Amino acid sequence: MSDPSSAATTPSIEVLPSILSADFAALGSAVDEVVAAGAKVIHCDIMDGQFVPPITFGPNVVAALRERLSDDIYLDVHCMIEDPERQVDAFAKAGANGITFHAEATPHVHRILQHIREQGVHAGLAVCPGTPTEVFAQVTDLLDLALCMTVNPGWGGQKLIPSTIDKTATIAAGLLPTTTVQVDGGIDEHSAPDAVRAGAHWLVAGSAVFGKRDPAAAFQAITAAARGAAA
Ligand code: DX5
Ligand code: ZN
Repeated sequence: MSDPSSAATTPSIEVLPSILSADFAALGSAVDEVVAAGAKVIHCDIMDGQFVPPITFGPNVVAALRERLSDDIYLDVHCMIEDPERQVDAFAKAGANGITFHAEATPHVHRILQHIREQGVHAGLAVCPGTPTEVFAQVTDLLDLALCMTVNPGWGGQKLIPSTIDKTATIAAGLLPTTTVQVDGGIDEHSAPDAVRAGAHWLVAGSAVFGKRDPAAAFQAITAAARGAAA
């Protein structure tokens, strides 16, 4: 399974279309469209109606995407769920390449990161906008990805919370150079450059891609803006 961030010491800049904003009745063709436009990583938002109010989908949808997409497309699973340890094996079996869970959802951050890696999957840890950054310090060696939420999790289409840009920089400064820094929420071609300058590598974009009339063109415009800021 390839990982766009593994070829170099510094992870590459990627825009991750979030299927949360896609037409669920036409999910396969929606994902095909962004993959044809160059997307290498697809972001899957898992919500359980507990950690956040909405309910989305589970491992069966991830497995269906895995079946449909070629092996070089990376499936990035963002778990906004209580007791994430109960679901790791199911998402790994479904073909997730990376599984990220929230520090606020469990007292067992260290153990779950270890467990995710033991399944042969990249391990990610996320924090909500109101959560301090210190949780990352104790587990830097176990992190493949650190996610700084740039909106409160649960819904697409929100405005990026400005203070999360400086927070992204604070988090990035404390990580190993090989750890992918991810931002999620309110990312579009205007906010993407600020996130990249703060140290973000992987930028999740839902409504700014699938909410547009031409998702492929929108994906490419955000990618160009993000990569332009890195140059
Ligand atoms: C929000 C999700 C995001 C969501 C982002 O809880 O984690 O991945 O899809 O949506 P936009 O890009 O519309 O803010
Ligand atoms: Zn997400």
